[in-house]
Amino acid sequence: MLNIDNLHAYYGKSHVLHGVNLEIGQGEIVALLGRNGSGRSTTAKAIMGLVDCEGRIGWKGQDILGRKAYEIAHLGIGYVPENRDIFPTLTVHQNLMLGQKGKGQGSRWSFDDMYGMFPRLRERQHTEAGVLSGGEQQMLTLCRTLMGDPDLIIIDEPTEGLAPKIVELVGEYLKTLKAKGISVLLIEQKLTIAMTISDRALVMGHGSIVFQGTPESLRADAYVRKEWLEV
Ligand SMILES: Nc1ncnc2c1ncn2[C@@H]1O[C@H](COP(=O)(O)OP(=O)(O)O)[C@@H](O)[C@H]1O
Ligand SMILES: [Mg+2]
Repeated sequence: MLNIDNLHAYYGKSHVLHGVNLEIGQGEIVALLGRNGSGRSTTAKAIMGLVDCEGRIGWKGQDILGRKAYEIAHLGIGYVPENRDIFPTLTVHQNLMLGQKGKGQGSRWSFDDMYGMFPRLRERQHTEAGVLSGGEQQMLTLCRTLMGDPDLIIIDEPTEGLAPKIVELVGEYLKTLKAKGISVLLIEQKLTIAMTISDRALVMGHGSIVFQGTPESLRADAYVRKEWLEV
């Protein structure tokens, strides 16, 4: 579904991604792991058309490199950035409405699906999103992106700074996506949540992919973990 070949990305003169290759099949959950600064978020931004890049990014057979972010979103790629950007003065429900593409007809997902997954959001549906806790804002961002009915969702460090209970909820969300056949690119620092849910794990270091394999093979590879993941 998604095929990235020899991707290079730049911030001005600073060359950050050095020939990244990455594939995600339909319904596949791929973890993209690495330390801070390794280039994971830049890879996500490159897919979404938010950073200067070269190479090829194929999506359902078309080359999307150079397209605008909203066009890429409309082609079925959802993006949950690392900064949980909700609309703080709108209610939870209004935030979800803004995530809908068109009028939401024919979408795989309803408001009830979101509130069923995260009952806390149902309780707070008429509350301004700006007063929610960090965990609730993360749930809301995850749900808002899902309301756009993406075929692939890119999620950047969804569990960063969250309590274990909320991390579990994020795990449930990922299982729901998997059950519906949505592809996922899950960006995390370490194996943790990615371990239980991902089909494949990639590790980035200094803007390149330095490991590819199953989560089990990564767990077994002490060298890669020590060199590229553990602090
Ligand atoms: N907006 C930016 N301008 C310049 N350099 C950036 C910018 N964002 C990230 N970088 C640099 O690009 C590299 C990769 O960063 P990033 O993709 O955010 O890593 P990660 O998400 O894996 O922590 C780092 O060296 C970082 O300092
Ligand atoms: Mg990042």
